[in-house]
Amino acid sequence: MTPIEETIINKKTNNTPIWLMRQAGRYLPEFKEIRKLNPNFIDLCLNENLSSKITLQPLKRFDLDAAIIFSDILMVPYGLNQKVEFKKNFGPELGPLNLKNILKIDEIDFLEKLYSIYKSINKVNNDILTKNKNIIGFVGAPWTLLVYMINRHSPKKKLIKDFFKDDFLINRILIILEKFLKIHIEHQIKNGATVIQIFDSWAGLLDEKDLPSYVYVPTLNLVNYVKSLNIPVICFPRGIKNYKTFCEIVKPDAVNIDYEIDPNRILKDIKIPIQGGLDPKKLLSDNETLKKETLKYLNIFRDHPYIFNLGHGVLPETDPNMVDYLVKTVKDY
Ligand code: CP3
Repeated sequence: MTPIEETIINKKTNNTPIWLMRQAGRYLPEFKEIRKLNPNFIDLCLNENLSSKITLQPLKRFDLDAAIIFSDILMVPYGLNQKVEFKKNFGPELGPLNLKNILKIDEIDFLEKLYSIYKSINKVNNDILTKNKNIIGFVGAPWTLLVYMINRHSPKKKLIKDFFKDDFLINRILIILEKFLKIHIEHQIKNGATVIQIFDSWAGLLDEKDLPSYVYVPTLNLVNYVKSLNIPVICFPRGIKNYKTFCEIVKPDAVNIDYEIDPNRILKDIKIPIQGGLDPKKLLSDNETLKKETLKYLNIFRDHPYIFNLGHGVLPETDPNMVDYLVKTVKDY
């Protein structure tokens, strides 16, 4: 069993494993070099030679326990024929959402468009660097993908005023997303993904009363699907505040916490394995501060099954030496 499986399945509390969200890309000079020559981000995600190479870059440098596939949650809207572009200094920009176009897509079209992602996972799986490590496949949660598909760019702090206006459209999209997210999960697993993480980056935008319809139920359907394939599933309902209720209803195999939630409260409230928490900005400080904050999480979760990770992705301005220092601090603990 891998160190991450020992933690999630056997509930081991020693030898804390570590991987980092957004460990592939953004801050690594060897990634930036490839990125400069490949201005189209979607094409880069669909180039299995380069995307597998980028996935393995952090494993060449650091003693990490998992590889996360270099891809994006927005590859699913792309696979459903919505236009997706990544603009410099702006982020993702999606084209108009056209239900009729989306309804035309069948499983074959979808798989044909995303085929190279699965080939990339296969390559990563066959590389010696991933021996005894997990390969993390992932999807965006239906709610977060719905936000991007309707809002058409990152919502930053709040949703547009009439976000919920067209409930016919919303309900149809949620049903379509559930179907295609399951297909995407299935093919990632078939090609070597050994853990699935579900990113619900915008769970924190919803009022408590809307969580059951948009977060709990759609996520639970995916969680149960991953469990039926005998693969561990980690959920990251970022900013949700009430992680306890989320875990009681959705019951993932592990939950990633964000950096705004008090880890001491989490330890009291949550019985399942926990992942993450460290504020990625701590990687922009100095060794001493980083070590102090890292030890804080390690000490709090000392006797609880815990996978070290961040409370959100590695920031682009991060110095790789700080990541090295972080990984060593966790491994020496
Ligand atoms: O974690 C990894 O290293 C694997 C790859 C990965 C990417 N995106 C690559 C990427 C993963 C797991 C994601 C998930 C993702 N994508 C999420 C969920 C996690 C989160 O951050 O909340 C979300 C919301 C997206 C959507 C997205 N993709 C945004 C908002 C942006 C622009 C801002 C940013 O984060 O850079 C992207 C682009 C993106 N996805 C980049 C990378 C390496 C940067 C692209 C570039 O080089 O311009």
